[in-house]
Amino acid sequence: MLDRYSYQSALAASEVIHWRIEDIIGGEKRLDFAKPFMPESLAQTGPLNFLTKEEKLILNQIRGNAYLSIFGLVEEFILPFVLDHARPQLHGDDYRVRALLKFAGEEAKHIQLFKRFAQEFADGFGSECAVIGPPEAIASAILAHDPLGVAITTLHIEWMVQRHYLDSIKDDQELDPQFKSLLKHHWIEEVQHAKLDTLMVEALASTRTEDEIMRGVDEYLEIGGFLDGGLKQQVEFDLTSFEQASGRTLSEVEKEVFRRVQLRANRWTYLGSGMTHEKVLETLESLTPKARQKVESISPAFC
Ligand SMILES: [Fe+2]
Ligand SMILES: [Fe+2]
Repeated sequence: MLDRYSYQSALAASEVIHWRIEDIIGGEKRLDFAKPFMPESLAQTGPLNFLTKEEKLILNQIRGNAYLSIFGLVEEFILPFVLDHARPQLHGDDYRVRALLKFAGEEAKHIQLFKRFAQEFADGFGSECAVIGPPEAIASAILAHDPLGVAITTLHIEWMVQRHYLDSIKDDQELDPQFKSLLKHHWIEEVQHAKLDTLMVEALASTRTEDEIMRGVDEYLEIGGFLDGGLKQQVEFDLTSFEQASGRTLSEVEKEVFRRVQLRANRWTYLGSGMTHEKVLETLESLTPKARQKVESISPAFC
């Protein structure tokens, strides 16, 4: 175990952050549909050279809506998972209990924030955009897996959020300031979650043999496969939403390029950028070097 993080320091860091949903969405704070929502490194509309600038913007915003919806989805399983992890030791370390309950409370706030955004997007975008779901069904499919596999998935997701914000969003001056503010406020709280996830993974692995740890890693990869199926479906939804919003029907050849480019972009956004995150790999390696090797042997398919 690497012993880098503590419940006490994660709690202290989260307690200085104060924002309410009403502070960042609603009233004068509105989305600007003349601007992109997603950074190009994640949206990948550029390679679709048969689209006009305006059509690329439409697709970018469709991807932005899906991005927040997919975060809303995964947070629906993170919330009960964190509560279940906290509950057996409510009379143990006070910092642990408080840090995990604060984590759960923040995820509940994020879920509500993403719902508010989805409503505002639906009101302003002008046509319907389907997203995968329903959240409860996806959450119960994920929670049916080995808890260590679920904890590694959570670790992956929260480090992935860090990477997206710091590498692609923070310094992108083209993005809609309202959408960017939403991502920034989410990211600020996710910093602590990623550290608490590391502690959860370490706690769950601490009593396991190497084979038992590898079973958890296999289940993490199974969950990844399940999410990958969802991403394929999301690309089909995005294609339909794009045609509807732009009023343009793509040729069969264009559709094939759209699917190929966008599936790759979705895989990198939600799978590859988490599987290859150095902090995720570091934690896996601290459990057993085999865990890191296994994930590294599979991640190129999602990059
Ligand atoms: Fe969150
Ligand atoms: Fe989180």
